[in-house]
Amino acid sequence: MTATDLRTQLLAWYDANARDLPWRVRPSDRAAGVRADPYRVWLSEVMLQQTTVPHAAPYFLKFIARWPTVGDLANEADGEVMAAWAGLGYYARARNLLACARAVANEHGAVFPDTEEGLRALPGFGPYTAAAVAAIAFDEPANVVDGNVERVMARLFAVEAPLPVAKPELKRLAAALVRDERPGDWAQALMDLGAVICRPKAPLCDRCPVTAHCAALATGAPETYPRRTAKAERPHRYGVAYVLTRGEEVALVRRPPKGLLGGMLALPTSDWRAARWSEAEALAIAPAQADWHGVGEVEHGFTHFTLTLQLWRAEGEATDVVWTPRRGLNVLPSVFLKAARAGLANLL
Ligand code: ADE
Repeated sequence: MTATDLRTQLLAWYDANARDLPWRVRPSDRAAGVRADPYRVWLSEVMLQQTTVPHAAPYFLKFIARWPTVGDLANEADGEVMAAWAGLGYYARARNLLACARAVANEHGAVFPDTEEGLRALPGFGPYTAAAVAAIAFDEPANVVDGNVERVMARLFAVEAPLPVAKPELKRLAAALVRDERPGDWAQALMDLGAVICRPKAPLCDRCPVTAHCAALATGAPETYPRRTAKAERPHRYGVAYVLTRGEEVALVRRPPKGLLGGMLALPTSDWRAARWSEAEALAIAPAQADWHGVGEVEHGFTHFTLTLQLWRAEGEATDVVWTPRRGLNVLPSVFLKAARAGLANLL
């Protein structure tokens, strides 16, 4: 079996099984000459980093309806875009998204550069995004390697080196399969194979179009690839979050522009540290003089740590806060939305 056979089989599978995704030009339409809109491809790729297709799709549709072109997005106020991003996580991406939209609008006449190299020079364009947009929007033979593609390569070639050490090898293996023919379809075929068939835990090998090439399947335990080094435990941190209400409104604060959840609205919160916070500590740094009650806690998983937020609730006044109606709390990142909902539900 040659690389060419593998490509032919996977592309044929993609022609018949490509997922219908709101940012995607179907393979039959691409064959008829329809080009993907680089703005839509870029937006989808940024949203899909660290996020699943079902979670990202409604956000994509909302953004495209509200800001149909990169120029529309570039002209929007920061706070509006950050609020629309709330719930997608990794908020640095939203800040970079705006920086990039403005660079394209102001420095490139609202036209995305059409090469991997040109894209790479834009703010927020890492190697993955540049390769993905170059391949999918411009049919450049770029090597598009995300976690899905790494997994597919690790299995096809039964790579024994563990992640993350194996990454350069997996990238080389993927590069050796790229051709000038249908680069955009090829990139998306690999992604779909990884998402739908070559799944992390329970691969559907009986439906896979390329089992004849799969060295991991031949070992009898394809799901054990990619190999991994034992994970260090995620550290645990504790913080206090304050749910201060004034009738139907909740007090929010804008987080500093840099750092975790930077630039997003949030509940007032303490530092996040390794030890729990005592009642005296929590009350000493409360954002207002009020009759505070402990109302339980919520836990939230971030990539690099798990956070327990100890919740305090009061009715009262405060300055330097953004009073936000309860119905408007969906501008909050998930961790604070969870905390606000729990704090508001626990009327002690
Ligand atoms: N995951 C990341 N990018 C994707 C794309 N363009 N299509 C499907 N899944 C993806």
